[in-house]
Amino acid sequence: MRIAVYPGSFDPITYGHLDVVWRAAAVFDKVIFAVLVNPHKAGPIFTTEERVQVIREAIAEACPAEVAVRIEVESFDGLTVDFCRRRNATFVVRGLRAISDFESELQMAHTNRKLAPEVDTVFFMTALEHSYLSSSLVKEIAAFGGDVGQMVPPSVSRHLAARGSGL
Ligand code: PNS
Repeated sequence: MRIAVYPGSFDPITYGHLDVVWRAAAVFDKVIFAVLVNPHKAGPIFTTEERVQVIREAIAEACPAEVAVRIEVESFDGLTVDFCRRRNATFVVRGLRAISDFESELQMAHTNRKLAPEVDTVFFMTALEHSYLSSSLVKEIAAFGGDVGQMVPPSVSRHLAARGSGL
């Protein structure tokens, strides 16, 4: 069984992430959306539990049942490769939006391979129409009350609306 882990902060998930996981689910038997607990990034808008819940709802709403059944959502703490080992995953999935992503992704892929040679990283080129998206921009727009409806799945908008205007 080919199991892949798709790690990230996902604060919040965007249509770009959904596109990547959907395509990864066509390649692997199981893809585990792995939400990093406490990302070292300023001002998370959603708690880990909320991010997991938002992603679960987004997958249930966007993916056909035969795709959704191969996608799991979990949170993790610590090293991505340790989480991969615990889940018997031998692949890490990441999306590449632009050349600017390449350098840091290359560094992470090489470092992870050094730590765990049995875990390889597979990149998907984020769909062109989503390649401008980033969670941090979404976060900023939402913080100023802007409309992020075209950038994120409805589950994100719902959870943002549920908490009122302030983030
Ligand atoms: O969505 P992000 O913030 O770009 O995801 C980055 C992530 C979570 C993939 C990366 O920070 C990570 O793997 N963190 C877990 C700790 C770890 O394994 N660090 C070594 C990476 S080489």
